Amino acid sequence: MMMNVCVLGTGYVGLVTGACLAEIGHDVTCVDSDVDKLAVLTHGDIPIFEPGLQKIVQMNAEMGRLRFSDDLRSALEAEELVLFVAVGTPTAPDGSADLSALFNAVATVARQRSARCPQGFMILVVKSTVPVGTCKRVQAVLSSHLPGSQFAVVSNPEFLREGCAVQDFMHPDRIVVGCTSPRALMAMRRLYAPLIGRGHCLVETDAVETSELIKYASNVFLATKIGLINEFARLCEAVGADVVELSRAIGLDHRIGVHCLVAGPGFGGSCFPKDLRALVDLAGKQERPMPIAEAVIASNAEHKRIMAMKICGALDGDVQGMRIAILGLSFKAGTDDIREAPAIDLIATLLDLGAILSAYDPHANTPAARLFPEVDYAACVEDAVSEVDAIVIMTEWAEFRDLDWEHLASVVSQPLVIDLRNHLDPERLASCGFDYVGVGRPKFNNAAYDAVPFLAISKGQSSSPSAA
Ligand code: UDX
Repeated sequence: MMMNVCVLGTGYVGLVTGACLAEIGHDVTCVDSDVDKLAVLTHGDIPIFEPGLQKIVQMNAEMGRLRFSDDLRSALEAEELVLFVAVGTPTAPDGSADLSALFNAVATVARQRSARCPQGFMILVVKSTVPVGTCKRVQAVLSSHLPGSQFAVVSNPEFLREGCAVQDFMHPDRIVVGCTSPRALMAMRRLYAPLIGRGHCLVETDAVETSELIKYASNVFLATKIGLINEFARLCEAVGADVVELSRAIGLDHRIGVHCLVAGPGFGGSCFPKDLRALVDLAGKQERPMPIAEAVIASNAEHKRIMAMKICGALDGDVQGMRIAILGLSFKAGTDDIREAPAIDLIATLLDLGAILSAYDPHANTPAARLFPEVDYAACVEDAVSEVDAIVIMTEWAEFRDLDWEHLASVVSQPLVIDLRNHLDPERLASCGFDYVGVGRPKFNNAAYDAVPFLAISKGQSSSPSAA
């Protein structure tokens, strides 16, 4: 049954939410104050790289079920309205979640709703990731403008992975709804009925705080798995084990599971780092510290530092003047997002150590160039790796697997690949004449590369003054 929906914020989450709600049959207005972004969307383009999104945006816009506007006032005139707030909640300087955009939006909605449609019933759905207790604060703001019978606040956290967000929305492991209003709960059941009807699970919590905390708990568990497998990768290098085989074997235990167990350069993105910091901040303020979550943050930071030292170790401990190609800049494959991407930390460290860097990413060259204009951004892999002393794989783009590595061995200065995603086939690289260094795969390290100097470097006792 079609419902009136307004989505406030057309970022990674808001745009996917609006488009997918239209896709399942609702009438959706996406509102944003960024007129440049709205112009792109109204023109039928997408301001972000998200597979499958452009198609459903265009199709639903053509069917008249999806529109983009900067006019929140008009959108608030609908008698029965479900209003999603999907504005950003970035990390504040003190590590807490910055909720200024959220509360500015809520205050505007409260004022305009009371002026435009005081008798209707509005469900304000907090889709943004927010600290526990935020929905109650939103409720208080709305109560100062609207009678309690005319609105309800619902927590409906998202579990969308960038790069497969449309898939995750249309085929959710679960939909979580936290609210105390029976009327709002009935409305949310109607809203998600097309997905529930396909067998997807709706989890209802009558304590909104439970719903808010579920989001953080999910991300901390996922980040902890990644942090732990990265620590095992480092241990594998010291003892001669293989982390890919280890990950597969422990992941076959259904209580562990194979997902989020792939060793790499450390986790990044706009969620895990931010949500972990916000959770630790919240737990601290509640005098319920969470040392495991704190350790995951520290472990990930240390892992990214050690990855940079690993590259130094593979280049005899000194990258001063060395030409290094970084393949992959986004925080993972399938997105153009470089927020807290490990590649960004790596570039900063290697530039500080005097390396000369080139880089290529199929979608993220442009945002990275805004941060590091001194890096040479190539239009293709071959241009990026020409005459380099080492190639570093930072993002697991499929195209990197299909490269003509035999030809690339003829254009590099030194045939060395440091694959921080274990993305490539080590034996194929070796057959093409490359020395290969993976993460947690010492049996494939056919470079003159020994874990001992690496571990010495990782303790800050570098074998060379330049590998600081
Ligand atoms: C995450 C959560 O998965 C999602 O449920 C939540 O809604 C938002 O945050 P996202 O940050 O988009 O999604 O990406 P995800 O696929 O979870 O990867 C996060 C980081 O972990 C990336 O840097 C990725 O490269 C890394 N990662 C992921 C690993 O290093 N190993 C893995 O096995 C999985």
